[in-house]
Amino acid sequence: MRTLNDIRSTFLSYFARNGHEVVDSSPLVPRNDPTLMFANSGMVQFKNLFTGVETRDYSRATTAQKCVRAGGKHNDLDNVGYTARHHTFFEMLGNFSFGDYFKSDAIPFAWEMVTRELGIPKDKLLVTVYKSDDEAAEIWKKVAGLTDDRIIRIGDKPDGGSDNFWQMGPTGPCGPCTEIFYDHGEKFWGGPPGSPEEDGDRFIEIWNLVFMQFEQFEDGSRRDLEAQSIDTGMGIERVAALLQGTNDNYATDLMRSLIEASADATSTDPDGPGKTHHRVIADHLRSTSFLLADGVMPSNDGRGYVLRRIMRRAMRHAHLLGAKDPLMHRLVPALVRQMGAAYPELGRAQALIEETLKLEETRFKQTLDRGLKLLDDELADLPEGAELPGAAAFKLYDTYGFPLDLTQDALREKGRAVDTDGFDAAMAEQKAKARAAWSGTGEAADAAVWYDVADAHGATDFLGYDTETAEGQIAALIVDGAQAEQAGEGTSVQIALNQTPFYAESGGQVGDTGLIRTETGLARVSDTKKTAGVFVHIAEVTEGTVSQGQAATLEVDHTRRSMIRANHSATHLLHEALRGALGDHVAQRGSLNAPDRLRFDFSHGKALAADELSRVEGEVNQFIRQNSAVDTRIMTPDDARAMGAQALFGEKYGDEVRVVSMGQAPTGKGANKQTYSIELCGGTHVARTGDIGAFVLLGDSASSAGVRRIEALTGQAALAHLRDQDQRLGDVAAALKAQPSDVPARVRALLDERKALANEVAQLRRDLAMSGGAGKAGEEAAAREVNGVPFLAQVLSGVSGKDLPALIDEHKSRLESGVVLLIADTGGKAAVAAGVTGDLTGRVSAVDLVRAAVAELGGKGGGGRPDMAQGGGADAANAEAAIKAAETVLEG
Ligand code: ALA
Repeated sequence: MRTLNDIRSTFLSYFARNGHEVVDSSPLVPRNDPTLMFANSGMVQFKNLFTGVETRDYSRATTAQKCVRAGGKHNDLDNVGYTARHHTFFEMLGNFSFGDYFKSDAIPFAWEMVTRELGIPKDKLLVTVYKSDDEAAEIWKKVAGLTDDRIIRIGDKPDGGSDNFWQMGPTGPCGPCTEIFYDHGEKFWGGPPGSPEEDGDRFIEIWNLVFMQFEQFEDGSRRDLEAQSIDTGMGIERVAALLQGTNDNYATDLMRSLIEASADATSTDPDGPGKTHHRVIADHLRSTSFLLADGVMPSNDGRGYVLRRIMRRAMRHAHLLGAKDPLMHRLVPALVRQMGAAYPELGRAQALIEETLKLEETRFKQTLDRGLKLLDDELADLPEGAELPGAAAFKLYDTYGFPLDLTQDALREKGRAVDTDGFDAAMAEQKAKARAAWSGTGEAADAAVWYDVADAHGATDFLGYDTETAEGQIAALIVDGAQAEQAGEGTSVQIALNQTPFYAESGGQVGDTGLIRTETGLARVSDTKKTAGVFVHIAEVTEGTVSQGQAATLEVDHTRRSMIRANHSATHLLHEALRGALGDHVAQRGSLNAPDRLRFDFSHGKALAADELSRVEGEVNQFIRQNSAVDTRIMTPDDARAMGAQALFGEKYGDEVRVVSMGQAPTGKGANKQTYSIELCGGTHVARTGDIGAFVLLGDSASSAGVRRIEALTGQAALAHLRDQDQRLGDVAAALKAQPSDVPARVRALLDERKALANEVAQLRRDLAMSGGAGKAGEEAAAREVNGVPFLAQVLSGVSGKDLPALIDEHKSRLESGVVLLIADTGGKAAVAAGVTGDLTGRVSAVDLVRAAVAELGGKGGGGRPDMAQGGGADAANAEAAIKAAETVLEG
């Protein structure tokens, strides 16, 4: 039997032998196409090679591409399980030429592949060509020897569209195509392509060859491509079916093994009454697992919601099979066995896929029964054949988590439909209520405009965990607070896109900056914020014009983002190191993760000691050097807490949280003994702790009562800081003419020496003053008699006011009985002190003497005790008059 895996490798190795580069499937979330929800054909990843925007070092390629058609324009979800060929996930095999070969090689390649490599009998095959493509028809005739009746020309459809002309979307590369059909024989009903019975099961298209010749633009115009190219797509499931003698894709080896796994796990018959359920489960197992492996997580918006819808649809079918416990996660090993070799990402993500499926199914089971009961009750009350009212469908959606298509799927078996208009109306009403509630919260009025954008376009899909560049479509432009069609050069504008790699400021991490480029203009993004689920790119148009609806290339400033990432991851390590060093009372109170530094506020009562700081710094660096992988998971807040996650301060948590873990601790705590740091966090992080590079603590300060603040640097900034410190130390050492290692001892010695010298200087000054040596010329240090009392008056320079009392005391003890008046000239200003020996205080008060002197010195007041008083004035030049005034007081 030609297994599906065998067909895939036969195809790839045939084209590899013929000069084609074997390129990996691109991820299901297209990085380079903003208009696509999921990769839906092989050419998506090569779009820019066809248009000539990008070149690579190969001009021929071959791929097995993962494709999902669910949500968005190509939506096969509703039919899956009920038909032979609808899938939400399928693989497309293709060969591609980028300006290399064209029709005359592509057709022989295809023919050889189909007839020789795969061994499909020629007489079972027929082809179609675009009605005017004589060239292709001729080649078929020559290469395959097909007669005219087996080369069917297909024309434009009456509605203006056309068959045999392939276009990836409203814009992009396109061209006429030729298709290969397989005739499953008379036992199936149906007619050849172009006939009224073409939709039957007899003639099945297996391969499409597109001759890429044009590029289609938004305004409907087309240009010829410089290089003519080839894009082909062969559905592997269909080919496997015909090679295995069936026309039912679900009967092929790969799908059958998944169906059997489902039957085994539920102890049911794979072909019994639960047949449809098994088919749905097998298909949905593939799409959900591959989406999870490519980073899509179940959510209530965008791609994540499509994933959730598929998951829940599968889970209802598992429930209908009677599965009591979550089923889907138990089937993942069967899928990995089948497809893990061709798609290694599946094996790598196996644990995440199983965990996520189990979590979703466990939670959904809690409401599924009650929802189904409500549905039955509603139906019981309805007249025969009537539609389910929209309000009931909305209640199932809102209260029981039933996506609309799940309800429709459940009703399908009963031959009923849902009033979808009523459902939409109920949804709109709920949104209006939410909005009214929000507008009462008093947030800035200009946020209202973002609620309009959110209503019209939905929340922005964030791609920035996995990539820093992507394409997006401009959903809205806001200029001066109002929506605008376009924004020209020099305009400050806020830009919303359907998806973006730009991180919007939250959880302490600053918003990204970078470039938004469209065909007609360039905008520089200086910040990114989030309002109502919409990522708001704050930008200025610096070239040309950007317009609403345009596709844009989005480029986050990589260097800056890398620095932010390093700081954010270091903050998590710091948090844990602080808890280890200071105790479990340490909880985050705030943080800033900017490109140039990080700041972390945490509850702790007192300053950190030097040894605590160095221990914390050392421990963070130890985990950086450990270079362990940083792991991210999505789970319920309860599960995250049970796992020991540190909740972030001030964040509100929804149904799901993102849990970031890093570091392998020799000794751990809680249930998860091995993991060092576990935090709930929506931020972007390094891939491995080693990417942080280095960590340097700048210090710790008080932030508010009971809250300390640590600032720190990582990576290049940390090293630059250390270099700078070293440079300064070098400067100091050079000034001291010492080795850097001797600097502390030298500085200590210098400080001791300085203190000794200062003491010596003070002593010398006093000695000098006592000896009168510093007195003004003509001044005597000796006392004279005034009113029978020895009176010593002196004007001094080189001493300060605070030296005076000690000098007064010395003079007093030398005189034994007498009055002393000292005036210090401190550079124009004057300090004055008077002293009276104890025997004379009854006759004259030092306070009176000082006051009289102060008045002459241009000052006011002065005070002290009768034996010692002090004062000062602005005018030392009047010192003589001041002495005179004191003398007058003494004279009585
Ligand atoms: N891109 C072409 C298709 O998807 C081959 O049919």
